[in-house]
Amino acid sequence: MPRNPQPERPVVSRWFAPGRINLIGEHTDYNDGFVLPLALAMGCTTTLSSAADGWTVTSAQTSDEVRVDPSGLADRPEVPDWATYVLGALWLLTDDGVDVPPLRLEVDSDVPTGAGLSSSAALVCSVVCALDDHLGLDLGPAGLLSLSRRVENDAVGAATGGMDQLVSLRGEAGNALFCDMRDLTSEPVPFDPEASGLTLVVVDTRAPHRHADGEYAARRDGCEEAARRLGVTALRDVTASDLDDALSRLDDEELRRYVRHVVTEDARVLSAVEIMRAGRLDGLGPLLTASHASMRDDFRITVPEVDTAAEALLAAGAVGSRMTGGGFGGCVIGLVPSDAVDAAGDAVRRAFAGAGFGEPTVFTAAPEAGAR
Ligand code: ADP
Ligand code: GAL
Repeated sequence: MPRNPQPERPVVSRWFAPGRINLIGEHTDYNDGFVLPLALAMGCTTTLSSAADGWTVTSAQTSDEVRVDPSGLADRPEVPDWATYVLGALWLLTDDGVDVPPLRLEVDSDVPTGAGLSSSAALVCSVVCALDDHLGLDLGPAGLLSLSRRVENDAVGAATGGMDQLVSLRGEAGNALFCDMRDLTSEPVPFDPEASGLTLVVVDTRAPHRHADGEYAARRDGCEEAARRLGVTALRDVTASDLDDALSRLDDEELRRYVRHVVTEDARVLSAVEIMRAGRLDGLGPLLTASHASMRDDFRITVPEVDTAAEALLAAGAVGSRMTGGGFGGCVIGLVPSDAVDAAGDAVRRAFAGAGFGEPTVFTAAPEAGAR
C-alpha cells in the first residue's frame, strides 16, 4: 500500500470565494451607485476534477449529486434550484462557444444560506474562478465579474445588482471595498475597527425571508421607473443637491420614498469613505444608523426582527447599527465598543426572547481577502 494513495479523481482546481457584509450602500448597486462591502472569512470552496463523461455537481450542504449532459442555457435540463448556481456557468460558457469538457464540481460552504451574507455569490464565484483556472479561459477581473453576474441574473433569474460578486472576487484583507457600480471600478479602503476600540458585530436574525424576491424586484422596478420619470439614466445621476427638485417632480409617494433612500444612501457611502480614510471610525456610527432608518422608513425593506436587533445593539452601546443585504430578514451589523461585545450579544438575545422571536446568531467579523 502506498502511504499516500492517489485520490480516485485527479483534482484539477480548487477555489475559495467568500461571502460578504455590506458596510453601507444598500440597494444602490442596481442604480449605478456606490457600495462599501467587505469580504468575510466564511465562504465556499469548489473542487473541480476531470470526469469520464457529463457534468456532475455535488454540495456538502445538500448531500445531493446532480448529473447532467452538457448543454447551453436554452436546452438546460430540470435540476434542483441549488444546482443552477453551479451549472449556470457551464451553460453560459457553452453558449459563449467554450468547449467545456466532462467535469465533476464539488462545493462546500460555511456561509449560512439565505441570511443575506451572499452564500450564492460565494458559490457562484468559486465555481467561476475554478472553471477559469482549469479551462485556461483567462477571463480577467472584468470577465470573472461578468460571468458570475450572468449566472445569477440569467441562469438563476435573480435580478441582483452585482455588488456581491464584485466583493467576493476582489475583496482585500483589512479593507472594505469602495465600488462604483456604474463603471465597476473598486478601491480598497482600510477598515480596522479594533484600532479605534470597536468591533464589527453581526447578528443573523434568522428571520425567514418574507416575499424577498418579489419585494426586491418591486424596489428595483420602482427605482427604474423613477429614473425614467426624472429623465436620468439611473438614480445615481440624482445628487444630494438635486434631491429636493427631483422629489418635487414626482407625484407618486412610493417612488419619492425610493428616490430619497437611494440618493441619501449614495451620499452616505461617499461620507463613510471619507471618514474611513481619515481614520475616524466612530464617525461611521451615525451614518450606519441613518442608513437603517432610511431602509426602514423610506425604502421599507426591514422587518421587526432586524429593527429589534438594530435597536438592541444601539441600546447596548453600539456607535451605529444597520441591516445589511437585500432586506426582509437576514443580518444586522453594529460597530460596538470592543469591551461591550458580549453584553451586546446578550442584549440582542434578551430583546429577541422578549419579543417572542427565534434565537439569533451573533458573531464578529473582519475584512478578509476575496476569491483565491
Ligand atoms: P444569500 O446569497 O443571501 O445566502 P440567496 O437566497 O441569494 O441568499 O441564495 C441562497 C441560495 O444559494 C440557496 O437557497 C441555495 O440554492 C444556494 N446555495 C448557496 N450555498 C450553497 C451550497 N453550499 N450548496 C448548495 N446551494 C447553495
Ligand atoms: C442583495 C443583492 C445585491 C444588492 C443588495 C442590496 O441581495 O444581491 O446586488 O442589491 O441586495 O444592497
